[in-house]
Amino acid sequence: MSRTCLAVILAAGDSTRMKSSMSKVLHPVAGQPMIAHVMQVVQKSGIADVALVVGRDAQAVSRAAEVEGLSITSFTQTERLGTGHAVLTAREAIARGYDEILVAYGDVPLITPETLMTARAAMAGGCDVAVIGFHTAKPTGYGRLLVKNDELLAIREEKDASEEERKITRCNSGLMVIDGKKALDLLSRIGNENAKGEYYLTDLVEIARSLGGRAVAVDASEEEVSGCNNRAELAVIEHLWQVRRRHEIMLSGVTMIAPETVFLSHDTVIGQDALIEPNVVFGPGVTVESGAVIHAFSHLEGAHVASGATVGPFARLRPGADLAEGAKVGNFCEVKKAEIGAGAKVNHLTYIGDAVIGAGTNIGAGTITCNYDGINKHETRIGKNAFIGSNSALVAPVTIGDGAYVASGSVITETVPDDALAFGRARQEVKPERAKAVRERAVALKAMKKNGHS
Ligand code: UD1
Ligand code: CA
Repeated sequence: MSRTCLAVILAAGDSTRMKSSMSKVLHPVAGQPMIAHVMQVVQKSGIADVALVVGRDAQAVSRAAEVEGLSITSFTQTERLGTGHAVLTAREAIARGYDEILVAYGDVPLITPETLMTARAAMAGGCDVAVIGFHTAKPTGYGRLLVKNDELLAIREEKDASEEERKITRCNSGLMVIDGKKALDLLSRIGNENAKGEYYLTDLVEIARSLGGRAVAVDASEEEVSGCNNRAELAVIEHLWQVRRRHEIMLSGVTMIAPETVFLSHDTVIGQDALIEPNVVFGPGVTVESGAVIHAFSHLEGAHVASGATVGPFARLRPGADLAEGAKVGNFCEVKKAEIGAGAKVNHLTYIGDAVIGAGTNIGAGTITCNYDGINKHETRIGKNAFIGSNSALVAPVTIGDGAYVASGSVITETVPDDALAFGRARQEVKPERAKAVRERAVALKAMKKNGHS
């Protein structure tokens, strides 16, 4: 599409019903601020220039909106006088001269690039305004679309609508495309003589028509244009996002046994033929490569799992966990900022943090890297094909060589060279027959107590 377009994103609402100390567009959906979702969709639809209209938390909102590939100018709407007024706050950007102006909302994050492109395509037939509408069983509160013979005649706000008009179930999502050459003229004609005393952007339709122009409506699904006014709606949006993304990921070749129990982040990447068991949570920054298996009840964040590696059940991968091909992190293990080499095994009740573990090494049950001295973090380096016996404490900084062997129950504080065997525990003593004496003494003590002696 060679026509130029400016996106005006409205994000100046005061978020009262969110009952929050921050603007609603900063609230995360799939681990990313709502406003960033909107920006990514705008970018994916082929638009490069954005005018962002902000109110409260202006700086934080502008920062959260930064997305690669977009040139964003922020405008502050100091008084909240309505959607028409909000768009005009970006007058300076609109005046640069674009073929089209797209208006979208910062609190409608599920909109798709396809719908934005459909609305823009509708402009091609010589149109002044293309409004994105939707059909709903619960139209209360929305502006109604008055459509006749494929022409959009007007948008009637709920408070200004007649009883007949309120029965209409085709509604205004609030998103629309406006002819860029006429936009400033049309917008400046909006007045505020209506039930709310606000400058309604929706008046553009009738204004354009009164000047001999055309308006049309294109439809989106109700889900796609869901807005967020309170925490309950935030949860609905999160749910819809998860459903949509799980579906895409499954269609890309990933198996999920119970997809409704898997929670993804905005940037989760999962390769083909990976298997995700039930009840897995992906925090931000996770890549799982092809053929890896994430067993049930695992929590991953900032982690990389190479192909053929397996995680869990009940494993926690924290930021910087990097599992090479075929590595295994088993039940009740926690891994943080650590490389687990190809085919290495970290299997039971273990904590590995700030560590490098070579290929083929086996870490026994209950091993702990003691990486923290209360003030600083230190590194543990373990070579290839080493064996760490169960219940060992590796006090960092410490190095264990290739092929080395650490006896179970060791506390390792010094370097273990390649192929060495290290014992870091008290030597076992055995006293023949001594158990009998111990037992007899205990029996005698019990008898004494029973007879009232103390
Ligand atoms: C608006 C539409 C309505 C549509 C509905 C969809 C108008 C007059 N009405 O109504 O037809 O069905 O959205 O949700 O446009 N905003 C600002 N500054 C303002 C006013 C609003 O930035 O001065 C932003 C809000 O943060 C929000 C969006 O614009 O993101 C819509 O504002 P809101 O007050 O929710 O509009 P509605 O009355 O719901
Ligand atoms: Ca609204």
